[in-house]
Amino acid sequence: MAKQENLPAQAGNQLMEKIISLCKRRGFVFPGSEIYGGLANSWDYGPLGVELKNNIKNLWWKRFVQQRDDMVGIDAALIMNTKVWENSGHLENFSDPLVDCKKCHHRFREDQLENAKKCPDCKGELTESKQFNLMLKTFLGPVEDKENTVYFRPETAQAIFIDFKNVLGTSRKKLPFGIAQIGKAFRNEITPGNFIFRTREFEQMEIEYFIKEEIWKEAFEEWRKEMWSWMTDELGLNKDNIHELDVPDGERAHYSKKTIDFEFDFPFGKKELYGLAYRTNFDLKNHFQEPPYEDIETKEKIYPHVIEPSLGVDRSVLAVLCNSYKEEDNRVFLKLNPKLAPYKVAVSALKKNDEKLVAKAEEIYHNLKKEFSADFDNRGNAGKFYGSQDEIGTPYCIMVDFQTLEDNTVTVRDRDTTKQERVKAEELLSFLQNKI
Ligand code: GAP
Repeated sequence: MAKQENLPAQAGNQLMEKIISLCKRRGFVFPGSEIYGGLANSWDYGPLGVELKNNIKNLWWKRFVQQRDDMVGIDAALIMNTKVWENSGHLENFSDPLVDCKKCHHRFREDQLENAKKCPDCKGELTESKQFNLMLKTFLGPVEDKENTVYFRPETAQAIFIDFKNVLGTSRKKLPFGIAQIGKAFRNEITPGNFIFRTREFEQMEIEYFIKEEIWKEAFEEWRKEMWSWMTDELGLNKDNIHELDVPDGERAHYSKKTIDFEFDFPFGKKELYGLAYRTNFDLKNHFQEPPYEDIETKEKIYPHVIEPSLGVDRSVLAVLCNSYKEEDNRVFLKLNPKLAPYKVAVSALKKNDEKLVAKAEEIYHNLKKEFSADFDNRGNAGKFYGSQDEIGTPYCIMVDFQTLEDNTVTVRDRDTTKQERVKAEELLSFLQNKI
């Protein structure tokens, strides 16, 4: 019985090990500072990882900023005036309950323990919980004193509130409208871990969508649907693996009147992927002495309320990797949405030393590279070529063979079905554009 209960966790661990190993072997994600023994829970994105991550960020920016009339973006400084964090409530309230094991001295977040009395590692007695502030501190200037103490932002959101009037004055937006930002955030997490799931340095994609108070429920509902569409239509996540959690009173962040967490079935369990919060006008009220928005019709001055869809970039990458990792028919492949794949297409010649074949393959590759991120993989072994590209999620592989030299057609292999079809070389661009 005990063994059975352990199985899912064990299978999850094995799957995570395979994903982490693939990420390292193929250049998606490496341990940070590795040649110096690493730095706890820091990770670097490699050549393929940065493509995947950028594809996610670009897709988000295109969908939520460029294609909407009611959205503008900013890119603010990571370190802000300390008064920002005093007035936002972060210095006082942005903390997690911490407990220590008196026996093995391991540390835990009390709210993540099933039994708050016993250590999950050694069953030892736990200390009383104390609040641990998550703000990451540093100093600006040569003197390390209280005056020069500053904090890295723990969320990208706050700069949006601080810049609200500047954005309003320069963009001439009217309610309802949103301000978006993608960027790094830092938190001195008590229990980082699970690969890139929880780290102390991470990236967020956040929107503050400003509204009049009376429409907050409709606006919240609209953004709830937008988030579902983002997760399923754009990232291609399996909807059965996504669950909503209406965060109860007492467990929400200090600024929120309603929060839905979108949880995803990661191999290590059901965990928060994104959050959607109704932050009321808490932040603008704390930062601006005068209401910063004037209603054009009524001339009434108000503090707009805000709906906040908050998305972690790294968690998006991890969810996409876990969702797309497949082992079927003796092959490993990443079934990525082609829009997210690091390479959209790879080209090879059937014989690596045949000058004519290689020249033709190079010509096709250089033509396609003008439109798509493409890889030239001339190992002269079709099986290895396909296997290697499957593993990194390249949706289409092109093979230049002897027939190509006769009729200018190539084979195009589909990653998911492994079926091949012959396509005229001059039609490859439009063929791939239609598919992707
Ligand atoms: N502005 C609201 C806010 O920051 P949050 O729930 O604390 O809310 C939002 O964070 C999202 O940021 C999370 O749902 C997650 O995707 C990501 N995130 C938060 N902490 C993280 C961490 N330590 N490592 C990686 N991603 C994190």
